[in-house]
Parts: sequence; structure tokens; C-alpha cells
Amino acid sequence: MKVSPEILGMTPYKPGKPISETQREYGLKTVYKLASNENPLGPSPKALAAVRNVLDRQHLYPDPSAYDLLTTLSRVWSVPRERMSIGNGSDEIIDLLTRIYCEAHEGVLTSKVGFQAYAVSSAANRLRLIETPLTADWRFDLKAMADHFLSRPEDKIRLIFVANPNNPTGTYNTRAELDEFFRRLGGRDDVLLVFDEAYTEFVRADDYASAMEYIDRVPNLVVLRTFSKTYGLAGFRVGTIIAPKEVIDIYNRVRKPFNVNDLAQVAAAAAVEDTEFIEKTRRLTWEGLDYFAREFTRLGLKFLPSQGNFILFDTERDALKVYEALLKRGLILRPVLNYGLPRHLRINAGLPEENAAAIKALEEVLKEIPPLTASK
Ligand SMILES: Cc1ncc(COP(=O)(O)O)c(C=O)c1O
Repeated sequence: MKVSPEILGMTPYKPGKPISETQREYGLKTVYKLASNENPLGPSPKALAAVRNVLDRQHLYPDPSAYDLLTTLSRVWSVPRERMSIGNGSDEIIDLLTRIYCEAHEGVLTSKVGFQAYAVSSAANRLRLIETPLTADWRFDLKAMADHFLSRPEDKIRLIFVANPNNPTGTYNTRAELDEFFRRLGGRDDVLLVFDEAYTEFVRADDYASAMEYIDRVPNLVVLRTFSKTYGLAGFRVGTIIAPKEVIDIYNRVRKPFNVNDLAQVAAAAAVEDTEFIEKTRRLTWEGLDYFAREFTRLGLKFLPSQGNFILFDTERDALKVYEALLKRGLILRPVLNYGLPRHLRINAGLPEENAAAIKALEEVLKEIPPLTASK
């Protein structure tokens, strides 16, 4: 059977290695996974309690309109319900947006080292992915992105994806940069500006602004949020799209009516109001990030200051060798070779004992594997 060149050229998305697989392969009892930016505290307890209450109605299909969940989100986020919808994780929303808004071979614009789902969905939907270089300090270059869009109409760019903060770099764009970006591209009817805010709750930088602040002023703006990180619900698969009503109407026509199951809807509605858990998660994450920053400095490793719940660091070695050696010691980190970074690894903030075990294992492995020579 014939398969399009875009699909043949795809490299499959490589998720973090599961704990059970690592235990089996290496004969280990204790394995720590700090590879998928998951919440080390587990799911929101309020979400779990809410889910237990509705187990006995699971013979019914879920509410396709997600009325209860969207009503809660509308109240908590102060966004009209008609301007929101749900996805099976924000991954699904990213994929549907590329399907809905781009014809074959049209363009999707993002940044190099931007979240990989944009590339995967673009290729799967036979679109051309265009990536502008990062700034010198590894941030999305919003000016270069706007310049590219405005100077290259022949690229037929229909979607621009900005992860703010970005994964795997942990870097972010400032309010001033958003102001300028929206001034130049806001209000156009030929492109949607998609701000993916999976890590927004972890941001500490004063000059950060969520794109949510702009939704009333920028009519071609789409914001994505996920319940997989701060709320600890990655396994439930819930993402949210906040967009103009016209976009939501189209999105709802294309998504499967039961794309988010009932347990997931109930869990998300409870989690978004679990303020105690959210605060606990943020504090633990910041503690973990600050600890890693101190320890990487002590170990002489370069890293990127992060506004997410993870840090990207330079092992100065073949990262796959470091990764393998860490697996043998029961620690799963995330290689980022697929982002063109053969020396870096990504680690997310875990519980204090997980963080300490990770640094101990890393310190041992760094002694075992010599750094690459400067010429490499
Ligand atoms: C920037 C970014 N966007 C979206 C997602 C996807 O999240 P979800 O679990 O909602 O599909 C992730 C997950 O790692 C992410 O890092």
C-alpha cells in the first residue's frame, strides 16, 4: 500500500519508559521515574474521591457536552462556557487543530526544540512544519516567528504553536513579547495563534503572562491547558481548548462525542478546585527544581533555568549512555535526541527522596562515563 512521504518520514513518539518495564528488564525492585513530567504526589485527592462516587454509573456513555466540567472551568477560570471544549489530553486537541485548519501541504509554524507533538501531528496530517531557531537563551523567538509568517505568505501557515513555557527547554516568553506578537499577528483571519500552556501553573517569573489574559482582545487566539501536570491526572487524559466561539463550534463537530470519558470529566472538575493540592504541588515542584539547580551547579553541569516542572541539563556526554547507566541504577530520565540534543537529558521534579536518589545515581554515572572531548 502507498503511504505518503510525510508519514514514512515520521519517527514514532517515544514516551518515558514505564516503571514496570524497567523493573522487568533490569531485575530491579525500586525504580524512580522522573521522565514524563508527571505529578510525584499522585492524582488530586479531591479528584479521586469524586471519581469513586461515580463508578456505579459507568455503564452510561459520558456527557458529550461535558456540561458539568465546563461549567466548573468557566467559573474558576472566568471564561464563558461556549468558549471552551475538551480533548483526550491536549495532545488530541493539537492533532485535531492541525486536521481542521490546514489543507494537505500547508504550513504549521513553531520553534526548533518546541514540544514534539506539533511535529508529529503535522507529519501525520501531511503538513509542512516550519521551525524558527531558538533565541540564544533557548527561548521561542516570537519576533522571528512573526517575521517569518509575515514575509513568507507562500508557506501558507495556518497554525502557529507556541508552548509557553516550552517542553523540553522549560523556557518561557514574556508579557512584552506576547504584547508585540499579538500586535503583529492578532486579529488576522488566516492564522490561529495557539498557546500551549501545559505548565503555566508552575511559572514563577514575574514577567510571564498567560495568553488567557488576551482572549478577549485577540480574536484568533487559542489557549490549551492540560490536567496531566499540576492536577496529577495524566492517566485520565483531559485537555482543554479555550478559543473563540466559532473555533469551538467547528472543533466540537470534528472531535468524537465521547473523547473524554466520564471518570476523567469528573476528576478534572474536582481537581481544578483542589487548591490545597495545587499549592502543595507547586511548592514541591519549586523545591525540587531549586534542589536540582544547586546540585547541577555543584556537579558542574550546565542547565536551563526552568518555569516548568522539569529541567533540561547538559551531561557533556553521550546522553544515551548516561540514560542507560541510570536505568541500571533504577532511575528513568528522558533522553531528548528526538529534539536534536544528543548530550542533554530532561528530569522532572519528584519527591525529595526521589530527587536525592537521582542526583546520587547521576553523580556515580558521571564518574563512570568520561565527558566527550571538546572537539565533539
Ligand atoms: C508543552 C506540552 N503540551 C502538551 C502536552 C500534552 O499533555 P496531555 O497529557 O494533555 O496530552 C505536554 C505533555 O508533556 C506538553 O509538555
